[in-house]
Amino acid sequence: MYHIKTWEDYLTAYEHSVAHPEAFWEEIATNFYWRKKWTLPLECNFEQPSIKWFVNGKLNIVENCIDRHLQHYAQQPAIIWEPNNPDDAHRVISYAQLHEAVSRFANVLKMHGVYKGDRVCLYMPMAPELAIAMLACARIGAVHSVVFGGFSAQALSERIQDAGCKVVVTTDSGLRGGREIPMKEIVDEAISNLDINHVIVYKRTGKPVLMKSGRDVWWHEAELHAQAVCDAEEMDAEDMLFVLYTSGSTGKPKGVVHTTGGYMVFTAYTFQNVFQYKPGDVYWCTADIGWITGHSYMLYGPLLNAATVLMFEGLPVWPHPDRCWRIIEKHKVNIFYTAPTAIRSLMAEGDEWIKPYSLESLRVIGSVGEPINHEAWEWFYQHVGKENCPLVDTWWQTETGGIMISPLAHITPLKPSYASLPLPGVQPVLLDPDGKLLTGADVEGLLCIRFPWPSMLRTTYGDHERCRQNYFATFAGMYFTGDGARRDQNGYYRIIGRVDDVINVSGHRIGTAEVEDAINEHENVVESAVVGYPHAIKGQGIYAYVICNHSPEDESLTRKEITDVVVRIIGPIAKPDKIQFVTGLPKTRSGKIMRRILRKIAEGETTHLGDISTLLDPSVVEDICKENKRMM
Ligand code: PRX
Repeated sequence: MYHIKTWEDYLTAYEHSVAHPEAFWEEIATNFYWRKKWTLPLECNFEQPSIKWFVNGKLNIVENCIDRHLQHYAQQPAIIWEPNNPDDAHRVISYAQLHEAVSRFANVLKMHGVYKGDRVCLYMPMAPELAIAMLACARIGAVHSVVFGGFSAQALSERIQDAGCKVVVTTDSGLRGGREIPMKEIVDEAISNLDINHVIVYKRTGKPVLMKSGRDVWWHEAELHAQAVCDAEEMDAEDMLFVLYTSGSTGKPKGVVHTTGGYMVFTAYTFQNVFQYKPGDVYWCTADIGWITGHSYMLYGPLLNAATVLMFEGLPVWPHPDRCWRIIEKHKVNIFYTAPTAIRSLMAEGDEWIKPYSLESLRVIGSVGEPINHEAWEWFYQHVGKENCPLVDTWWQTETGGIMISPLAHITPLKPSYASLPLPGVQPVLLDPDGKLLTGADVEGLLCIRFPWPSMLRTTYGDHERCRQNYFATFAGMYFTGDGARRDQNGYYRIIGRVDDVINVSGHRIGTAEVEDAINEHENVVESAVVGYPHAIKGQGIYAYVICNHSPEDESLTRKEITDVVVRIIGPIAKPDKIQFVTGLPKTRSGKIMRRILRKIAEGETTHLGDISTLLDPSVVEDICKENKRMM
């Protein structure tokens, strides 16, 4: 693997990657097993957009994740699985065992009519079988669409339909801390009106479930008829690898599409260099596989480097807030990659939970998903990293496929709460709202990327125009991230947060329009406006301003009902933290809601609200402020 080992290496690599980007990526790509080499490194047009990396190259990513390692690493653990209940035994799956399990399940998929190009929905908890099912799809060229277990039946149903999945893989139920999630029941509800050929069910807990004859099959029974040998399908570098739904500024989530060759090269390269993984290290990423971090840095990136990945089924604070530290000590974890929300909630539990445990094995700690505030950064660095472990604050997105801006562990000088410098191969720029390039130091602007990189999204499933408009139409010749950032004198980037109508709740991206659409389904709701506000643990909380048909007789009951509607339509992750009933919303004369004002009020600011003279009815603001004070 292409390995940056020193600061000088970094500077040289960066310079080279800007001067000769195509040659830079070709050199990295040679570290993989290609059935046929590409004929051209890149074909790109940002206007359409049409982006192709490693044109005409043929490969299978699973051959690169597993088969390629069997000669030297067959007995090395690929996945160490720590179950929800600390008293249950953990599992260790070697590369040889993973190869067999993936091949067998790939045959199960084929036996159930899944072939190259078909989309398969995976709705599963954090069990190794989720990883196995993803790899089995990729082995036969099927496209996986993993839906996070926290989404409701309705949200799952929309995603299954949008991607046109004919097969769903799930479990009887899932365990998250003290809760049991009825996965199969949720799937049944999601597909009750859909034409689904098969549901394959992995028995995780033994919870009794209904099995529809002819449609539903048990994983363990189907496997009895499947061979443990399955040739990997030859894929084009630009064949679709997976779809992953994420929120945007409209109500409908979009299916971000990643393709095979570029995603492989980028995730492997970034994993190796950001974390400085060494053979034998145990690497733990706490993200759920249902999000991009789980795809890129729990599965593909690490396996492409023959790494040992720790996968945890449960919650960091269950049954007690020492769970993470117990796991680190038990499995001698060397690299620990988590999210600011988890860090803040562990910090809130107090240092005494850490003290009894030896965290000596740790060499690198990392953070992802949302801006990490100074206090959380310092706490993580001092109490977990013991001031010995570099904290890599990694900025990236579902759409970027992999880490874009981050320190390289033990190489890049750290600056608290700064994601720091771009990786070689990544060219970020800051623009003002008119698209003018902001040069120099100490500037703040809209973060864009000006040259393609291998793992960038190629399209949004079934709606290419949406992809163009969302990411490539705002500024000509640029990919627009939707984030604002600041750059200091040393070229270090600090990510400020979203500049669009997307909020980041516990590292989960949620579109305000999605939540509004759900709230508006309540029979007494006329209109609503949702904004984010600072939340001590979650980063951002969801604040909903709601206009009712008739003022609620029992406000707390209506609040509960509205919350239930949101949970039913989207899932528990989108529950509003605060609901304020209002009689009107601040709108401009053209009818646009002035969210800037609502955000300020949600933050507790009721005096300095800026210019409100352009509002259709400025008196609305006064009423909202009064009501807000009453609620506090
Ligand atoms: O706003 C940025 C924030 O998370 C968004 C991407 O969310 P998602 O696609 O769900 O992917 C999350 C995991 C990669 C970004 O637009 N974000 C992500 N990482 C950071 C961050 N904000 C600040 N600092 C980060 N390190």
